[in-house]
Amino acid sequence: MKPRVPLAVTLSNGKPEDSQVARAREAARQWGLPFLPRRKKEPMGPLLKSAADALLVFEREGVTLWDPEGSFSFNPGMAHLRRLRILSGQQDDALLRVAELRAGDHVLDCTLGLGQDALVAALAVGPSGRVVALEKSLALFAVVSEGLNAYDYGPQSCRVEAIHADAHAHLRSLPSGSFDVVFFDPMFEKPKKSQPGFEMLRRFAEHAPLTPETLEEARRVARRWVVVKGAKHSEDLKKLGLESEPGSRYTSVIWGRVPGST
Ligand SMILES: C[S@@+](CC[C@H](N)C(=O)[O-])C[C@H]1O[C@@H](n2cnc3c(N)ncnc32)[C@H](O)[C@@H]1O
Repeated sequence: MKPRVPLAVTLSNGKPEDSQVARAREAARQWGLPFLPRRKKEPMGPLLKSAADALLVFEREGVTLWDPEGSFSFNPGMAHLRRLRILSGQQDDALLRVAELRAGDHVLDCTLGLGQDALVAALAVGPSGRVVALEKSLALFAVVSEGLNAYDYGPQSCRVEAIHADAHAHLRSLPSGSFDVVFFDPMFEKPKKSQPGFEMLRRFAEHAPLTPETLEEARRVARRWVVVKGAKHSEDLKKLGLESEPGSRYTSVIWGRVPGST
């Protein structure tokens, strides 16, 4: 019997098309994960018991992450609503305001997560801009980057370029002043009330807090602002020496920013 692995790639248990099988095999190779063939109608439960702790399942519409407690697929959710508000001329999106995002900006989102802030930034910077987004968790990166590849951005947005990387290591590899804005939305110490999908995100996410060293690297890379999102009534921002920017009384998040040092 093969040893159990933490994460593997498989297919849905219908009759997958050849292109779907090829895509799944190629993704498994790229991500350095085992590919587990699946028989027609073979249920998920036994595979999760015997072969892997979690599975990335290639379906016709995208990739779903499964573990014994649930599943998670890409869903633009709130980002879709935020993008519609921006398209209708509303200027009240906190990320856009705090980062002072404008057309043509280059943004580095160091915490991709569900991809929602990255999608909003992509619309704000427009087709002449650039949004690169980093995600340390391979499982989350796999689901969200596949979702972002298939997303219909429309002509007023750039695409999001997702990279599987640790923010600190990636920042260190970048030249000084190579992005206008660097953005962090680390996992909160105290979980806030969550949207669907967030429970699964919590189980698979990287939880280590943002450190002053990483913030300093980000300042070196940022031409304008390093922006950090934190939880209201927490020490998240204070610990980094950041003041919270004035914002809405009605949200559970606060925003801090520090100028780039280049
Ligand atoms: C709160 S979520 C971000 C949500 C995101 N802003 C959105 O709009 O969907 C934080 C994400 O950052 C990732 N993360 C945490 N530390 C990281 C690091 N050092 N490098 C890259 N990704 C990291 C976590 O795995 C998690 O997916």
